[in-house]
Amino acid sequence: MSSFQTLTDAQSPVRVVLVGAGGMGKNWIRVLSASPDVELVGLVDLNLAAAESALTDAGLSGVSTGTSLSTVAAASGAQAVVNVTVPAAHHPVNVEALIAGLPVLCEKPVAPTVALGLSLAATAEVSGQLLMISQSRRYYRTLAELKRQVASLGEVGIVTTDFFKAPHFGGFREEMEHVLLVDMAIHAFDVVRYLLDDDPVSVYCEEFNPSWSWYAADAAATAIFEFSGGTRYVYTGNWCADGLETSWNGSWRVNGAGGSATWDGTNSPVVERTATAGAAADRSAVAANAEAEEIAGALAEFVQALRTGRTPSGEVHSNVQSLAMVEAAVRSAETGQRVRIDEVLESAYRAALAGERRPDVKAALAGWDSPLGQLA
Ligand SMILES: NC(=O)c1ccc[n+]([C@@H]2O[C@H](COP(=O)([O-])OP(=O)(O)OC[C@H]3O[C@@H](n4cnc5c(N)ncnc54)[C@H](O)[C@@H]3O)[C@@H](O)[C@H]2O)c1
Repeated sequence: MSSFQTLTDAQSPVRVVLVGAGGMGKNWIRVLSASPDVELVGLVDLNLAAAESALTDAGLSGVSTGTSLSTVAAASGAQAVVNVTVPAAHHPVNVEALIAGLPVLCEKPVAPTVALGLSLAATAEVSGQLLMISQSRRYYRTLAELKRQVASLGEVGIVTTDFFKAPHFGGFREEMEHVLLVDMAIHAFDVVRYLLDDDPVSVYCEEFNPSWSWYAADAAATAIFEFSGGTRYVYTGNWCADGLETSWNGSWRVNGAGGSATWDGTNSPVVERTATAGAAADRSAVAANAEAEEIAGALAEFVQALRTGRTPSGEVHSNVQSLAMVEAAVRSAETGQRVRIDEVLESAYRAALAGERRPDVKAALAGWDSPLGQLA
């Protein structure tokens, strides 16, 4: 990953413009206005009335509003952007901000496709600005504890996640293709990369729709990933699973050479080690950003990165691999074949090069030796 510009004044609150005042945008307004690290100076939405009423509901005044990011950012002297628009708008909004010289913290997924994610990674390189993706399910104190415990289990053989929930969302989710894999499983796929500090090489996935499902498309899936270190990761999820539901983080088991750990997604993990493995426990792998949780955790890591230059875990080059896991699982479910992650990245790279409209970004993409090498 190329380096990015840091803030010259590393003490004062970072002046932030938020883009997107929908359901999640309102959560971000709460977190941004509660954080001493940032000052919310602008709110942008295509729906200006939505932006204004979100600020009124939050009891905030003196925040610039508008429908144009560039205009609001200039008027408010913004130093950074938080992008909480719909996924289809992530690419254009991120490009506008980065090219204007503003670092961006963007909600997951980085973009609707891996190809657009690669375009954003190259745009970040061209701009010299940080683009970090907020994967809020990385930030739990009990998950950080699980990561510490996993480091004491020696070589990890198998990680499993069971995800069983029964939400009735209504709206687009009940109609969209691959709803579980695309809209939800990305959280678990991203967490397992964080947990193992490793990246996947292949996946085999089957999707289906239970007969009682209230979704139009497949709401259940099982995916088996192989990681580069040899670990197998097995994800099973069902989004129409009434009874004995898991937490929203799912229910996890990690089995290593030196024992096993389980995590219910909420409480502290439970660990059972072999006697010899206990002595070898390595507690140095503690996540530094585990204090603030969920989106506040992502915000804290973003600000810390801007102040120190330390690459955050959700930096766009690395994060594209979480989206590649989703795209590979979908391709496997559609073809019935095991799919290699590097093949997904290679085809996305060709699509990104062919589709890129900005000459400077196209040149940056063309300069990559290989997409996988560039993302590592
Ligand atoms: N981390 C999580 O657990 C979590 C949970 C929910 C949503 N999300 C993510 O948050 C993002 C937003 O989701 P949501 O539920 O708030 O969606 P939403 O549809 O409720 O709100 C999106 C808002 O963005 C605005 N918008 C769209 N395009 C825009 C553009 N080009 N410029 C300015 N404004 C624009 C819309 O007018 C709308 O107000 C998505 O990426 C979603 O995946 C994350």
